[in-house]
Order: sequence, then structure tokens, then C-alpha cells
Amino acid sequence: MIDTSIVGRLKAIESIAVLSRVASTNLLARRVMTECIDNELSLPRAMIIAGEQFAGRGRNDRSWSSPPGKGIYTTTLLTRAAHELPLVPLEIANIVASFLRETFAIDARIKWPNDIIVNGRKIAGVLIEARVQDDRAYLLVGIGINVEPHDDDDMRPNATSISETSSRNFGGINAATLAFIEHIDERLTHPIDHDRVLAEWRALSIHNAGDRIHCVLGDRTIDGIWSGIDEQGRALIRDGAHTMAVSAGDIVLA
Ligand code: BTN
Repeated sequence: MIDTSIVGRLKAIESIAVLSRVASTNLLARRVMTECIDNELSLPRAMIIAGEQFAGRGRNDRSWSSPPGKGIYTTTLLTRAAHELPLVPLEIANIVASFLRETFAIDARIKWPNDIIVNGRKIAGVLIEARVQDDRAYLLVGIGINVEPHDDDDMRPNATSISETSSRNFGGINAATLAFIEHIDERLTHPIDHDRVLAEWRALSIHNAGDRIHCVLGDRTIDGIWSGIDEQGRALIRDGAHTMAVSAGDIVLA
């Protein structure tokens, strides 16, 4: 179990809840968010961590395999200015990729908008849900990081994990989770600086101009040629003479 006394050292995150087993940390965080908004309370800067999820959720209505002891499963509640929302998925991807690079010397890269990839395989995923009210965005930032291989990995041939890709000795799941909490906390103290977020994302991206890209966004499938990201962090995807600007926004709750 995680030693929650770490919270005393944190700057951006003010509380941590550790649960051994939940359906989904995002679902739980959504209840907290709804409760706060309905009662006009400010959102706590809190992180929910689960040892196991029995109904972990991925993007595009997929599930996220979350067995005990094999991964980091967290959701962080945050509030940001609504105009910063388009860059949040990119910044969170930067945070997860830099965590894997700096702590485990893993060559983690970002596949648009926020899948984290090592040697062509997915090591981490991000599911952001947002509710916008006036000029504030209330955010649930769900992050799943594979730490150890899963027993069902033959069903997930494109998955990899920290223990399979890091050359460093690491102290197992609890040490990895504590290191992640400290990393994300430190990064969340920095404001979203537009130019820095885009430059970091571009430097970590796996995409090169001219690559063919296929991505699923909600009920849309987009195919075309990668032409970079624009100043709002939207992917520019060329299809013949036409270029689409596709925003990363995961799920905006009604
Ligand atoms: C993806 O499809 O790439 C996103 C995966 C996000 C998984 C994390 S695990 C913690 C949080 N709770 C969930 O149910 N999902 C996210």
C-alpha cells in the first residue's frame, strides 16, 4: 500500500485517497466533481489511486485492463481556466512521458493526442473528462501506466510495461507509484505555458510530417497525412487538398 504521508511534501496536490479496489478511479472522481459542482463547493486538488480497477475505462469507450499489482491507476481532480483546456491533454501527455523518461530511462514518446508509446507499444494512456462552467474547466485526469506485464498480454499484443522496457532497477509498483505522484505534483505546479507545452509535445511526438495517420476520436475515424499540430494543439491532418484541424478534447461532460 502507498504511504500517504507523502502528501505533506506535495505542492499542487492537497490530498490523496488510496483504495485497494474500485470500479474506476475516473468514475469515483466524477462523483466527487458532481457533488462539488451541485453544492457550489470548490473542487479539491485531490488524487485518487486504486490498487485495482474492475471496470477501468479507456478512451473511445474501451476498457482499461487494471489488475492488482500490475499498474498505476490514478485520477487527479484539477481546475484550470477554460481557455487552457485544449492544451491540457498535450501537457498531461508531456508529464507522463517525461516521468517515464526521467525516472526509468525509457524512450517514451507521444502518439497524438496522449497515448504514451515505447518501441511502437503502448505503455500508458490518459483519459481526461472535463466539465466547463463559465470560465473554469473542472478536470478529471485519469492516467493508467503499465508497470508489470499482465497475464492477459497475449490479448494485448501492442502493450508494454515499465519492467519490460526500463534498464534501471526499480523498487516495484509502490516505489513507481510514489515516484509518479511526486513527478506529476511537481509538474502541476507549473502554469500551462502555451509555447513550452507545444514545444515539449512536438519534441516527444512519434509523428513526422508526411506519416500516414489513422485515429479514432469518439465515433469518428480520421485517416490522412500528419502535418503537425497547430498553435491550439490541434492535429493537422491532410486528406488530398484538404487539411483538417482535429482537437484532442477527450470527453466534455454535459
Ligand atoms: C486510454 O484509452 O488510453 C486511456 C486509459 C486511461 C486509464 C486510466 S486508469 C485510471 C483512470 N481510471 C479509469 O477508469 N481510466 C483511467
